Amino acid sequence: MSEKRILVTGACGYIGSHTLVDLIENGFEVISVDNLDNADDAILEGVKMITGVHIDNHNVDLSHEEASDLFFEGIGQIDGIIHFAAHKSVGESVEQPLKYYQNNVNSLINLLRAVKKYQIPYFIFSSSCSVYGNPESLPVTEDTALQYAESPYAYTKQIGERIIQDVAAIEQQSKFILLRYFNPAGAHESGHIGEQPINKASNLVPVITETAIGKRDKMMVFGFDYPTRDGTCIRDYIHVMDLAHAHTLALVRLIENEDAPSCDIFNLGIGEGATVKECIDAFIRVTGRTLNYEMAPRRAGDVVAVYADNTKARNLLGWFPSKSVDEIMLSAWNWELKRSKVI
Ligand code: WQD
Repeated sequence: MSEKRILVTGACGYIGSHTLVDLIENGFEVISVDNLDNADDAILEGVKMITGVHIDNHNVDLSHEEASDLFFEGIGQIDGIIHFAAHKSVGESVEQPLKYYQNNVNSLINLLRAVKKYQIPYFIFSSSCSVYGNPESLPVTEDTALQYAESPYAYTKQIGERIIQDVAAIEQQSKFILLRYFNPAGAHESGHIGEQPINKASNLVPVITETAIGKRDKMMVFGFDYPTRDGTCIRDYIHVMDLAHAHTLALVRLIENEDAPSCDIFNLGIGEGATVKECIDAFIRVTGRTLNYEMAPRRAGDVVAVYADNTKARNLLGWFPSKSVDEIMLSAWNWELKRSKVI
């Protein structure tokens, strides 16, 4: 396969930077565009330390039509787009819905206009298990009916999927894949890259590691009276490098399969759920650290339980996630120690 130029939006972010590594290691040329709203382009130095490849970031706010159009006019040939750039905090989206609708929806629309104008053949969309809402049955398959989106964040992903499906139905020259992530966590084994939001982390695993290292006095467990085995929410935690590789496999599927559907959907989870308490216990067990946490009221926007049936991704993408919650916790802790310059 000749070297394809892949545009990665949000490439300085958590999943984006890890996907850069996997794409480079699989022979792709990558272009980074990120407005650094919640990321630091210093992460690209970490990508270079792992891959040897220097990448410059294009600081563009893709939610602004003129800036987006100008960027595409000057960037040269693009063989595919992997679209990560979006606001992603469930809790924050409840407090600031318009920030999420403006950014997440407008960015996607501007990118899809470029796909049409420049006949870009492949487009991969960062979707989310949150599109399932509170599912009626578990595990969820790609055919599980989507319920009410429990947060504006989740709704921007439901809207995004529908926009892409409608565009895919008429843009015959392009093919699309929607990747529904479950809960990304962990870090590259090198410790050179990891979750490093500019804004205060709200996801469980970085909150755990920041609490353990002393950046936070304590952490809250949001809700302990849910109808689950220990009263805390259940999620499907997927190691970020397993997740990153799924993007490369999805791209290869589009490039190599003429008969691939115009728009396809894949669940990216390990296929089992872990409760918040089980995650905390796993962290304590694998690191030997103590953790100061206390039970707190439920968080608005949270679903009770969601985890994946990943059969379709296994069969059609050849994707076999291998890392456990224990490995997630160890790699996340290693990253926290490195970025806090403790090791
Ligand atoms: C997980 C559980 C919290 C912090 C994630 C991503 C989102 C999307 C969907 C991919 C919940 C609990 C958390 C804390 C806690 N992923 N928690 N104390 O909300 O499932 O959303 O998956 O697109 O981008 O954020 O992840 O890590 O915020 O919460 O008790 O300090 O941990 O209540 O039950 P969530 P999360």
